[in-house]
Amino acid sequence: MKKIIYLFLLFIFTILSCEHDSLYVSVDENDVIVEDDCDPDKIYYVNDVLPIINSNCAISGCHGGGSTQDGVDLSSYSGILQEITIGNAFDSDLYEAITDDDPEDIMPPSPSNPLTLEQITIIRDWINQGATNEECGDCDLTNVTYSLSVWPIIQNNCTGCHSGANPQGDLSLTNYNQIAQIASNGYLSGVINHEAGFIAMPFNGQQLTQCNIDIIEDWISQGYPNN
Ligand code: HEC
Repeated sequence: MKKIIYLFLLFIFTILSCEHDSLYVSVDENDVIVEDDCDPDKIYYVNDVLPIINSNCAISGCHGGGSTQDGVDLSSYSGILQEITIGNAFDSDLYEAITDDDPEDIMPPSPSNPLTLEQITIIRDWINQGATNEECGDCDLTNVTYSLSVWPIIQNNCTGCHSGANPQGDLSLTNYNQIAQIASNGYLSGVINHEAGFIAMPFNGQQLTQCNIDIIEDWISQGYPNN
């Protein structure tokens, strides 16, 4: 009888752990929770928030790439948590900074453009939803194109540093020709995959999501078309 109870418990345990695995797969040292069954109403830190921070705030000379203006370092999840009150955007320094009425104090400062209302809303809702470190793991690799798939990733994760009059590393990544250039010589793949011999990008920041890396690799393997 004991043996039967034991087997029964083992059976239940196995079922429960399988179910758990299909919903959440825990990854890497940053403890990101990757959710496969994504909730359309939920703001995902890795997919939705991180690109906004990376391209507007966590840039060299500001709050990333080793720079910590005003003691603020937004190049990691833990650094971002320092600037917010979980569950309360209106009591969060980060939210106050991006919505400040005073043109002298608003972030990002002039001559950068303020965040769009949509970007501000994403950050607000993420904080209010609990500011968790999660990623939506759905990855769609059908119909990968330059304009709809690759450019948004570069724009959100790279142009913050690689644009303007003095782009970082003397490299501007603001149009197709410039991006095709680093696709053709292997640099694009090398820097995003953190391959030996390349400087890991985003510089001093978190690596792109596996989905975004897969999208860029797919486009490179198609011969990086301008489509
Ligand atoms: C926080 C600022 C920042 C961000 C964001 C950033 N870069 Fe860079 N990037 C740099 C700096 C600084 C250098 C020059 C590093 C050096 O030479 O030591 C550089 C250099 C490079 C180089 C030349 C690397 C080499 O091995 O010589 C490439 C290619 C590059 N970046 C691509 C990218 C791509 C693609 C992204 C987006 C996924 C990106 N960068 C995001 C700051 C940034």
